Amino acid sequence: MKIGGHAYRTIWPEDDGARVAIIDQTKLPHRFEVVHLTTVDEAARAILTMQVRGAPLIGVTAAYGVALAMRVDASDEALAAAVAFLAKQRPTAVNLRWALEEMRRHLAPLEPGKRADAAFAHAGLLADQDVAMCKAIGEHGLQIIHEIAARKKPGEAVNVLTHCNAGWLACVDWGTATSPMYQAHDAGIALHVWVDETRPRNQGAALTAFELGSHGVPHTLIVDNAGGHLMQRGAVDLVIVGTDRVTASGDVANKIGTYLKALAAKDTGVPFYVALPQSTIDWTLEDGFVIPIEERSGDEVLRLSGRTADGAVHLFDIAPEGCVAANPAFDVTPARLVTGFITERGICAASRAGLLALYPERDAAA
Ligand code: MRU
Repeated sequence: MKIGGHAYRTIWPEDDGARVAIIDQTKLPHRFEVVHLTTVDEAARAILTMQVRGAPLIGVTAAYGVALAMRVDASDEALAAAVAFLAKQRPTAVNLRWALEEMRRHLAPLEPGKRADAAFAHAGLLADQDVAMCKAIGEHGLQIIHEIAARKKPGEAVNVLTHCNAGWLACVDWGTATSPMYQAHDAGIALHVWVDETRPRNQGAALTAFELGSHGVPHTLIVDNAGGHLMQRGAVDLVIVGTDRVTASGDVANKIGTYLKALAAKDTGVPFYVALPQSTIDWTLEDGFVIPIEERSGDEVLRLSGRTADGAVHLFDIAPEGCVAANPAFDVTPARLVTGFITERGICAASRAGLLALYPERDAAA
């Protein structure tokens, strides 16, 4: 996607694989800064501190982290250590485990001397595949938006609500939840997006609003608690969110607050779709409530980051001194609340049967 007229991906190798460039998402929306990862430690830190975040991008960053590790030591032990080290940086998004397993499976049979170049090539392939999957998710999701647009009066916009950032910044390009929105906008459909601010890290305010604005998609930022009210008033035609892990039976882990949006959507009859690439499906789990939920520091709840009139970015305390805060970062939306999944292979019911209809090879693998 374009920033200031320049087309970017969220991650790319430079200098023949000596370093990997990322957009530092902790600086957005106030500063657009590219930083360089040169070691596996730096890749791990970028994932842990959320310089990169979003399930697909976490996975691709980890893949490049393995490649950076292989530049230094490509032994079997170093490969196993890099995979184990990167895997423990964030617990909920299954794309991390998926990408690391892809790298391990591809590299393990090779002679150590060939692993570094092969690792960069394979990480690049995973990045390209993510772009292709997100583009296809958008093409399938566009059908849903088209159908809603066809029922609207001339000039009336389709109103989509989204939570967190499941945009191109969370992936390599296009995004999952945002891909249908970009494609609808580009196709000339009048579209407006309600953007949940997504406390406490404000991925909606800082990232989704930034990227929709950069692409010219009309949008309005709302507080996290406004969605139910807007749905009751008929101001939301559909909800599309991303996900960090979908179980084989269709339960959905996503950013904290997603469940409340799904409940409100069910009560008001608003379709609630979850957009995902196949790398987000955890075929080893049935029950969403066993997905590990990341507990982050209470400091993220107690402090807000913001820019003051002089342009400086500061952290502000918003609670009394000594206040205790809890910060579960994700929640689980049961499959029964999900209208459907938008995947790179098409749209399906949020159920084992629905997923297997799109991924029949998994039936054989079971
Ligand atoms: O904590 P984050 O910012 O990594 O959480 C991101 C989300 O919850 C996204 O909605 C999810 O990863 C889907 S990204 C396409």
